[in-house]
Order: sequence, then structure tokens, then C-alpha cells
Amino acid sequence: MRTILVTGGAGFIGSNFVRMVLVEHPDVRVVNLDKLTYAGNLENLAGYKEHANHVFVKGDICDGKLVAELIETHRIDAIINFAAESHVDRSLVDPGIFIETNVNGTLTLLKAALDKKLERFVQISTDEVYGSLGPQGKFTESTPLSPNSPYSASKASADMLVSAFGHSWGLRYNITRCSNNYGPYQFPEKMIPLMINNALHDKSLPVYGDGLHVRDWLYVYDHCTAVWKVLTEARPGAIYNIGGNNEKPNLEVVRLILQYLKKPESLIGYVKDRPGHDRRYAIDSAQIMTELKWKPSVTFETGLAKTIQWYLDHPDWLEHIVSGQYQEYYKTMYSNR
Ligand code: NAD
Ligand code: DAU
Repeated sequence: MRTILVTGGAGFIGSNFVRMVLVEHPDVRVVNLDKLTYAGNLENLAGYKEHANHVFVKGDICDGKLVAELIETHRIDAIINFAAESHVDRSLVDPGIFIETNVNGTLTLLKAALDKKLERFVQISTDEVYGSLGPQGKFTESTPLSPNSPYSASKASADMLVSAFGHSWGLRYNITRCSNNYGPYQFPEKMIPLMINNALHDKSLPVYGDGLHVRDWLYVYDHCTAVWKVLTEARPGAIYNIGGNNEKPNLEVVRLILQYLKKPESLIGYVKDRPGHDRRYAIDSAQIMTELKWKPSVTFETGLAKTIQWYLDHPDWLEHIVSGQYQEYYKTMYSNR
């Protein structure tokens, strides 16, 4: 049996990944290290926290002693690093924690992975490290890094540390750079769940700027299958872009959500733009599709319908989040826009 250390496994993508591994790969044990920040939520692991192949540990990836102990005690073979501060808007208010977790935390994990001679280190990065595109073209793995926000700068720094550990000391690593994920268990600070939640409560849907910024939407389960293929089949040192081939302007996505929920377009409210807002992301996934035979399983229309239905079917999950500190967050971020 193989044992993997998944960090950030109580967050949105990490919890979807943990669930997928426990269900589809019964010969794998998962040690799940998560600090349970505002974004970490044990309800994301409902029904799986006590699974025989799952050990949950509340802790910080910046804690080198804890990471080393976990690797030894559980005989970890590989680390998959999902843990991060992940929201661009928060990074524009308080960048320091992004450096601490995304850069120093990754460095701590890298040191431990090298010291314990792990088989593989998979860094979950983002297409935002490439910066912003004009109307044409897509990001490939050789697009130069040109991050624009404190969040993406911290992720690009982490990527460079990972490859430096490979180059300098032979760490066996991979880096994945995916586009915008959506699906079950996403915290409602991100656009899709925020708009769903507001629409459900007949609240204004705050579209930044002209609403014509383009994102390339990737269903979270498809992202998880791609990461699994990278972990198990990729050549060491390879970087893979992962996208959904679903480029959409934000306004179109918001309109689809309103249509699904049978709510009026008059709920759309244009608000002040995000500072330095990247105009367009689009991913060329040819490399992972050709080399690892990965492809996304759902179209955007199907994935979005499944996602909205999931939020409709899980009112308690949503309510537990939006009735707490979230109210304060929303007031701070949106009241003066
Ligand atoms: P998330 O914010 O939902 O979850 C992050 C998780 O990391 C939380 O459970 C949190 O408690 C945990 N965490 C934060 N700091 C920690 C620390 N110091 N030690 C241990 N755990 C800590 O994020 P997400 O959307 O699931 O993103 C996961 C990863 O994927 C991130 O690295 C992010 O940069 C990357 N990514 C996300 C997207 C997206 O669309 N959501 C797209 C591209 C890349
Ligand atoms: O591209 C990958 C990245 O996608 C990840 O690395 C990040 O972790 C993830 O948060 C996401 O970043 P974005 O900034 O693209 O996602 P967000 O959901 O915050 O915003 C998506 C788009 O919607 C963006 O153009 C900003 C816009 N937006 C967002 C919010 C929260 C709005 O118009 N209104 C909003 O209230």
C-alpha cells in the first residue's frame, strides 16, 4: 500500500481529491494535513474523515518538525501540496500570510521531502503565475512567468523553489498549473459559489468592472483525476497545464447561474473592478492530454448544472459558512465597491 501526504485536504480542491482517492484507489492511504483556516472545513470531508485509509491531522505546513514526524510515522511516499491561501482579493488586502503559507510553507515541505528522500513532490500551482492574456492565444508550459497579484506572485515563487530543489538536489517533483476550478464544496468567496449564494438569497450579484474578464473553467473532479495521473504516471520534473477548455466571460457565467435558479437578471450589480484584474486566462492542455491521456469528463454546462444542484442539495453546508465570520468578510470586501 502507498501512503501519500495531502496538504490542504480540508479545502475545496484538496477535499475533492481526498474523496476521489479514498473511493477510487482503495490501495492508497491518505494522511491529510490541514491548518483549518477560514477556508478549511471538516464538513468538506463528511462521511470520509473516519475512513480506514484516512488520517486527518490539524497542523501547519510551516511546522517542519510536524511534517518530518508525519513522514516518518506514516512512511509517506509522496507529498501533494494543495495547502495555500488561495483568494486573490484577500491577497490584495493582506499579502503577508500568502508569503508565509504559500512560499515558506512550500519551502518547509520541500526540505522535508528532500531530507526523507520521498518518491515524489507534486506542487499544485495555478495558471495565474503566467499573468494575463490578450484576446488571442493560450498559456502553454513554456509561457514565461509574469504574476500580477500578491497571490500569484507567491505561487510563482513557490513554483520556482520547487524546480530549484529539483535542479540543485535532484528532488523528484511535478508542478501542475490549472485554471479556475468550480464544483462542490467551494468556499463562497470565489465567484461561482458567491453568485449562487447571493442569487439564492435574492441579493445583488457583484460583477467586477465590465464583467468581460474571461476565465477557463475546470470542473474540480476533472482537476483531481489530472493530479492523480501526474502523481502516478508523470516523468519527474515535468510541468503540466490543466484546463477545462471552457473559456467564458464572467457575465455569461453569472447569467447561466441566474437562468438555472430562475432568478431575474436585474439581480446583477456592477461594482468597482478588482485592482490589477487579469483580463483573460486560457489554458493549452495539449501536453497532459497527449502524454498522460487525460481529458475532462464534463462540459461546462453539465458541470455548472451539477454544481448549482449540489449547493441546492446542501443548504446546511452553505448556511454554516455564510452565517459566521463570512458576514464580516462580505461587508469589508463589498460594502464600499
Ligand atoms: P482553499 O482555500 O479552498 O483551501 C486551502 C486549504 O489549505 C484549506 O483547507 C486551508 O485550511 C489549508 N491551509 C491554508 N494554510 C495552511 C497551512 N499553513 N498549513 C496547512 N493547511 C493550510 O483552496 P483551493 O481552492 O482548494 O486551492 C487548492 C490549491 O489549488 C491551492 O494551492 C491553490 O493555489 C490552487 N489552485 C486553486 C484554483 C481554484 O480555482 N480554486 C485554481 C488553480 C490553483
Ligand atoms: O485561475 C486559477 C485561479 O482561479 C486560482 O489560482 C485561484 O486560487 C482562484 O481563486 C481563482 O482566481 P480568480 O481570481 O480567477 O477567481 P475568483 O473566483 O475570485 O474570480 C473569478 C472571476 O470573477 C474574476 O475575473 C473576478 C470575478 N469576480 C469575482 C468575485 C469574487 C467578480 O466579478 N465578482 C466577485 O464577487
